[in-house]
Amino acid sequence: MRSTPRPGAVGSTVRRGLVAAAVLALGATAAVATATSASAAVACKVNYTASQWQGGMSANLSIQNLGDALNGWTLTFTFPNSGQKVGQGWSGNWSQSGSTVTVTPMDWNKQLSSGGSTSIGFNGTWSGSNPTPTDFKINGVSCNGTQQSPTPPVSPSAPVSPSAPASPTPPVSPSPVVSPSAPASPTPPVSPPPPGVHVDNPYAGADGYVNPDWSASAKSEPGGSRVANISTAVWLDRIAAITSGSAGNNSKGLREHLDEAVKQDAANGNTPLTIQVVIYDLPNRDCSALASNGELKIAENGLARYKSEYIDVIAGIMADSKYSNLRIVTVIEPDSLPNLITNVSNFQACQEAQSSGAYVQGVQYALNKLHAISNVYTYVDAAHHAWLGWDNNFQPMVNLFHQVATGTTAGVNSIDGFIVNTANFAALTEPYFNINTSVNGQSVRQSTWVDWNWYVDESSFATALRNALVAKGFPNTIGMLVDTSRNGWGGSARPTKASTSTNVNTFVNESRVDRRIHAGNWCNQSGAGMGERPKANPAPGFDAYVWIKPPGESDGSSSQIPNDEGKGFDRMCDPTYGGNNLNGNNPSGALAGAPVSGHWFSAQFQQLMQNAYPPLS
Ligand code: GLC
Repeated sequence: MRSTPRPGAVGSTVRRGLVAAAVLALGATAAVATATSASAAVACKVNYTASQWQGGMSANLSIQNLGDALNGWTLTFTFPNSGQKVGQGWSGNWSQSGSTVTVTPMDWNKQLSSGGSTSIGFNGTWSGSNPTPTDFKINGVSCNGTQQSPTPPVSPSAPVSPSAPASPTPPVSPSPVVSPSAPASPTPPVSPPPPGVHVDNPYAGADGYVNPDWSASAKSEPGGSRVANISTAVWLDRIAAITSGSAGNNSKGLREHLDEAVKQDAANGNTPLTIQVVIYDLPNRDCSALASNGELKIAENGLARYKSEYIDVIAGIMADSKYSNLRIVTVIEPDSLPNLITNVSNFQACQEAQSSGAYVQGVQYALNKLHAISNVYTYVDAAHHAWLGWDNNFQPMVNLFHQVATGTTAGVNSIDGFIVNTANFAALTEPYFNINTSVNGQSVRQSTWVDWNWYVDESSFATALRNALVAKGFPNTIGMLVDTSRNGWGGSARPTKASTSTNVNTFVNESRVDRRIHAGNWCNQSGAGMGERPKANPAPGFDAYVWIKPPGESDGSSSQIPNDEGKGFDRMCDPTYGGNNLNGNNPSGALAGAPVSGHWFSAQFQQLMQNAYPPLS
């Protein structure tokens, strides 16, 4: 696979227009806030969605701040039925007293900007019935979705607060919330959703499948056992990989992996197990590059073969009741829909993918078949910030995702989420500057590195993309994944502080942790390290950080190597290549000595461990 950047081609007038509009809007909001509020005016909206099964539920709440910025907040609501109980919560500190539930934030979501939002959730239990709570309050103010005026001054005759008895002698001991005879706020047993139930976030509370093939390769390297038990994805990169796993390093087919996953699941008590499978065989695959070209061609009936010999077979195996307790995450077709946004005019194979409708129909077919299996989860690939982060790419991509989804049987609900940075190297977060940083009066957007992009890293890009997708009509439950397998950028070349240069280019180049020569470089990048280890619910709106590209598997051969996998030689994998207009005519930054994509590349694996960030222990 490859990851093609599309430097911003938006006219600078349009850009300036947008900046001006944003500044105006900000001014207006600030004015309203000052005019109406002496203290912080609270206004909020809470959206509560739950999936339920006999006796259990898994709920998601999105809290939207419609008032002034909050630094710390307390959410309360009441369960309508006394049998409803919170078990295990996430993205907040959850407690329940009687029917009243109270949530305080974590460090990372305690600040809610005006207009900002955060998502929290819990698994719980119920008996009798499970009605949806409605009386959400933030800091005691009802979340009815409208801007409230500040709490009116308390008139002397008004009851001060129902909970404060006007008792002249304050209680000596802290007043008990529950009467001493009542069991001290019973914590219900945490009830994980029954296996196989489609939950909102398949990574929450689950173990990850360790692919024995990758694990063995990792272990064969000195020091590799430090990472060999990390969950990485299984790539079904050709039809043969479904049955024999013959491609690349893989010895196992899909059934063998799922059988092994059932074993790993059984070995770990009640904790559910999540296995990640990459669906990657569209006809005219990797249409703007050569290194991961696939076996199917549109002109050779590829779409029909994709459906019947690939997707149908995969869906048939995944639907086997033997596997119904597993949570099967599918990553749908890396790079494909993004290629339709940026690469149709330059690449004949992409143009064919577009005009034939093969990519759109292939992805829709995959979504229809996979979403229909209740324990399968679908995450559609959304490239990365240095591909889609310009205005003329971003919204068209959102629109295409929406169009693709609405053309499926389940519509927008056929997609559980989106994944960014699959097999790419873009940093999760640039710690020393963001898109609003300016240097000597010049925005970092003007630097050669950022090149007028609106994002400098994957965290900011994925957050914005999610917001735009929800605004377009996707449910607020969609979650983002970030492939962090190779975006660590640690080691001795990692900057430890912001540059002090007053030149915007020097500032960005000295401050950025992403040490690539150009953000459009994508093949076996020299200097990269393993990134964040897989983690569920790492930040609001993110379902997980995941390792989809198995570290150590090559992105493409550094010179022409004959192979029977349909793969070509892409010069972006050749360290002697001087680049093209997609990477600003820079060197490729690729490591030398690389084998064909998907095959084990020991030297790369060693460097990825050495430069891991956070470092490996
Ligand atoms: C590349 C290869 C593919 C491999 C995958 C994961 O996209 O083309 O064969 O399975 O990377 O390493």
